[in-house]
Amino acid sequence: MVASEEAKALAARFDLRTLAPSFYEDPFPTYRALREHDPVRRMPDGSLFLTRWADLDRTYRDTRTFSSDKRVEFAPKFGPTPLYEHHTTSLVFNDPPLHTRVRRLIMGALTPRAIAGMEPALTALVDRLLDAMAAKGEQHGEADLIEDYAAAIPIEVIGNLLGVPQGERGPLRDWSLAILGALEPVVAEQAAARGNAAVTEFLSYLRTLVARRRAAPGDPATDVLTRLIQGEASGERLTETELLHNCIFLLNAGHETTTNLIGNGLEALLRFPAEKARLLEQPGLIGSAVEEVLRFESSNQLGNRGVMAETEIGGVQVAPGTLITLCIGAANRDPAQFPDPERFDIGRMPNRHLAFAAGAHQCAGLALARLEGRVAIGRFLARFPRYAPAGPPVRGGRARFRGFLKLPVRLA
Ligand code: HEM
Repeated sequence: MVASEEAKALAARFDLRTLAPSFYEDPFPTYRALREHDPVRRMPDGSLFLTRWADLDRTYRDTRTFSSDKRVEFAPKFGPTPLYEHHTTSLVFNDPPLHTRVRRLIMGALTPRAIAGMEPALTALVDRLLDAMAAKGEQHGEADLIEDYAAAIPIEVIGNLLGVPQGERGPLRDWSLAILGALEPVVAEQAAARGNAAVTEFLSYLRTLVARRRAAPGDPATDVLTRLIQGEASGERLTETELLHNCIFLLNAGHETTTNLIGNGLEALLRFPAEKARLLEQPGLIGSAVEEVLRFESSNQLGNRGVMAETEIGGVQVAPGTLITLCIGAANRDPAQFPDPERFDIGRMPNRHLAFAAGAHQCAGLALARLEGRVAIGRFLARFPRYAPAGPPVRGGRARFRGFLKLPVRLA
């Protein structure tokens, strides 16, 4: 544990733009120091960094004061590039009316019934991957839980949701990693170039997919792309640019975050063997175990808002135009909301974590992500109860998205 004076110093020098390498491995001592000593931290660039659960919950819910529109912020960051067009056209980085129109169309295809209907195919996919890993394990003794498992699941699920043909899914993960990588607090030139190339290639692919779907529409009750193309019953349609960029966003939103939920969960169970034993004894805890993984190792650690009207946060006066970073990873370990927050407790109840944010922009895919987490983690554990580390895991090295690039394990 970091001593009090050290914690104060840690909070006092915190700047999201100059993070130490150790932060990526374990940001939680820094988060804790900030929560305790400077919970509404003014960073050198004038923006604020929030770490308390109550401040995040209120900020996410108050859409009149806090905007998701990123046009002003992203103009100098990206310039007139494909990345700028992409991010500023996605629903997540917009306020009404675009946000409302796109969200309604997406939610219409993500009903509880539609999601329950996805479970049999998901279970079959997971079992196929488990069989393939068992065969690989027999030959080599080890498997990589990210490449062989966690990354392979969301790509198929989200590919099915938009009806991307099986043989065309190959480039999706790399495009997604490149586009989301360019959302880091500091973006190197090379990362921006990769992100821009990915948006351009993705758009060109989607133009052909959309043209094919226009010619042969799917069932709008389950096919999100058909819904987005056909628009609302009222006749309101998305423009072609809005349609394409929101498809890219949807494909990205469901990939890395869910891969990280599965990877982070299987890694946490290795780090906390008593909790792994508990889950093996009581498989019925899988639902609360997934919630605890989301809280304890949130896939998405940071969110952002812009202030639209003079306000006050935790006693600090905040002017319009101020940019705010909401630290989900810190809020999810706030002792004012979670008793014994540094403890990984798969039976934790209640667990009002903010891994999916809250309010009008709360994750549209949360029920699907939870289903994927339960099926993937639950069935893996039942199949390979004695899995063990086979080398050091490799972290993704990002501040915003927390997860692993490699997680080598022995399966038995
Ligand atoms: C563990 C997995 C996931 C996590 C942790 C996660 C997290 C989040 C968070 C924090 C937001 C809010 C962003 C903000 O407003 O600042 C969000 C939005 C969103 N997510 Fe997820 N997500 C996950 C999986 C998914 C999946 C599987 C899908 C697609 C099926 C999805 C689709 C979306 C969409 C469309 C939005 C934008 C909603 C809006 O702006 O109204 N997400 N997600």
